Amino acid sequence: MLSNNLDDAVAQHPRELITYGGNGAVFQNWAQYLLTMKYLATMTDEQTLVMYSGHPMGLFPSHKDAPRVVVTNGMVIPNYSSKDHWEKFNALGVSQYGQMTAGSYMYIGPQGIVHGTTITVLNAKRMQRAKHPSRKGVLFVSSGLGGMSGAQPKAGNIAGVVSVIAEINPKAVAVRYSQGWVDEVFTDLDILMPRIRKAVDTNEVVSIAYQGNVVDLWERLATEEMYVDLGSDQTSLHNPWAGGYYPVDIDFVEANRMMAEEPDKFQAKVRNTLRRHAAAINKLTTGGMYFFDYGNAFLLEASRAGADVMKSDGTFRYPSYVQDIMGPLFFDYGFGPFRWVCTSGDPKDLAVTDRIAAEVLEKILQTAPTDIRSQLQDNLHWIKEAGRNNLVVGSQARILYLDSMGRIEVAKAFNEAIRHGEISAPIVLGRDHHDVSGTDSPFRETSNIYDGSSFTADMAVQNVIGDSFRGATWVSIHNGGGVGWGEVINGGFGMMIDGSADADRRLKSMLLWDVNNGLARRSWARNQGAMDAIRREMERTPQLVVTLPNIADENRIKAALKHK
Ligand SMILES: NC(=O)c1ccc[n+]([C@@H]2O[C@H](COP(=O)([O-])OP(=O)(O)OC[C@H]3O[C@@H](n4cnc5c(N)ncnc54)[C@H](O)[C@@H]3O)[C@@H](O)[C@H]2O)c1
Repeated sequence: MLSNNLDDAVAQHPRELITYGGNGAVFQNWAQYLLTMKYLATMTDEQTLVMYSGHPMGLFPSHKDAPRVVVTNGMVIPNYSSKDHWEKFNALGVSQYGQMTAGSYMYIGPQGIVHGTTITVLNAKRMQRAKHPSRKGVLFVSSGLGGMSGAQPKAGNIAGVVSVIAEINPKAVAVRYSQGWVDEVFTDLDILMPRIRKAVDTNEVVSIAYQGNVVDLWERLATEEMYVDLGSDQTSLHNPWAGGYYPVDIDFVEANRMMAEEPDKFQAKVRNTLRRHAAAINKLTTGGMYFFDYGNAFLLEASRAGADVMKSDGTFRYPSYVQDIMGPLFFDYGFGPFRWVCTSGDPKDLAVTDRIAAEVLEKILQTAPTDIRSQLQDNLHWIKEAGRNNLVVGSQARILYLDSMGRIEVAKAFNEAIRHGEISAPIVLGRDHHDVSGTDSPFRETSNIYDGSSFTADMAVQNVIGDSFRGATWVSIHNGGGVGWGEVINGGFGMMIDGSADADRRLKSMLLWDVNNGLARRSWARNQGAMDAIRREMERTPQLVVTLPNIADENRIKAALKHK
């Protein structure tokens, strides 16, 4: 898993030990890598390897049921968690930015993000279609053809929309075009605009890259009053000062020079660009566009730059994709990015797992309650098509959004297939940190939690502690990831299953906790879907006893307080 994160075919900057997201590090330096490999090669199953932000602190005696590796990345004292602190601690070599699955050895290449982006765009499209049933094509405009953002055009094609994605870096455009994830590339807006119109009018499914600054694209769309159905942004605004977001009106090479030599001027240009960016979006949303923040800190940085993105009550003018889609439709029901990797490296094993997972899902669907049927159906469709979509880069891995029951049933079926030799070698189970329970992030994963607790990080910390004593093979907890350093605490796990009865015991115990911890918290925050889902889980699992909220009548509370 660790080597896959650093493989030339998988990692964004393998020589710099960066897996994805511009600065998502596995290690800080190659000495740490060599030492870690030595420890992993010599350790026993009664030792645990302790990793501090890429630094292998050493092997400590433990026991067979303990995790073999415990990883922390970027954990700092909360008052010292600004972006400047990160620059300093990273330069000193005492801390690193592990993103989510980079520093936890759980990255499976772009297919993870293709699946997540597909279900987001698909559900956004359904919402818009319901509002405007007479429209022909659905136009989706966004930016970024990088590590994760590059999934947008591929997902757009799977979801059946016209996607137009702006990307300033010609190299990033060339990679996605040569891969076949982008169908057409344009550099001239005069030629691009009629092409978009034609695609929408004829209900074509096509992915188009605009090689240029996204603000030029948005301003042109706004000037021509083009009807855009869906809009978002996936520049790397979690890292605005060091190449995550390019200012408008200066070319790419000059921007890179200015960033290094005149950082203050560069930052002022970024802020100005963000204000223009938001102004164009505001104009288009007034005309009916649905805009959502894609978890890249766009609204956060735009607000810091003084852009017009706030409502009078101090909240953002636009929702995050988690608030409207991923949270209420998926996380609140326990659906999240479960994944597995075949350690044999054999595509035949992966094909067997795809078949088994589809069979398990079909069985679950037979008795599934109505509120989760469409999620199950979308995922069944995904897993049936997964082989054909050819999404494996690096290890033979698969992602599938599943809930608690789905994850446990699929994992049990895999373990049995390993036991009977139907799958030739052990499987590693895991998930993206971007999940139901693993991540506390008020501007993303927990942005649909409204009781004030979205700024707490108890859930993520509890999650990793709970996973570690319920049988995970390794666990990790990080500061940063996605929306940026200081903005999120996120954790994950890896669990190797080898067909044994012991693996059966561990997977049931750990996966149940790993999903239902978050459901209990989301339910306590009075999210309706989570309240329903945790009640169902308690019926299935009598030992699970969760404190449920009582929903009080708001008017009565108000009246009582007034009376007092
Ligand atoms: N979609 C999700 O579910 C999800 C999940 C995790 C993280 N994110 C966030 O999305 C962002 C993108 O991630 P990534 O891995 O693709 O990063 P990346 O840095 O590889 O890609 C971002 C791309 O945006 C381009 N860009 C920057 N400014 C631009 C501008 N003004 N106009 C046009 N293009 C511009 C860059 O050249 C770069 O190629 C990150 O902030 C990441 O944390 C999204």
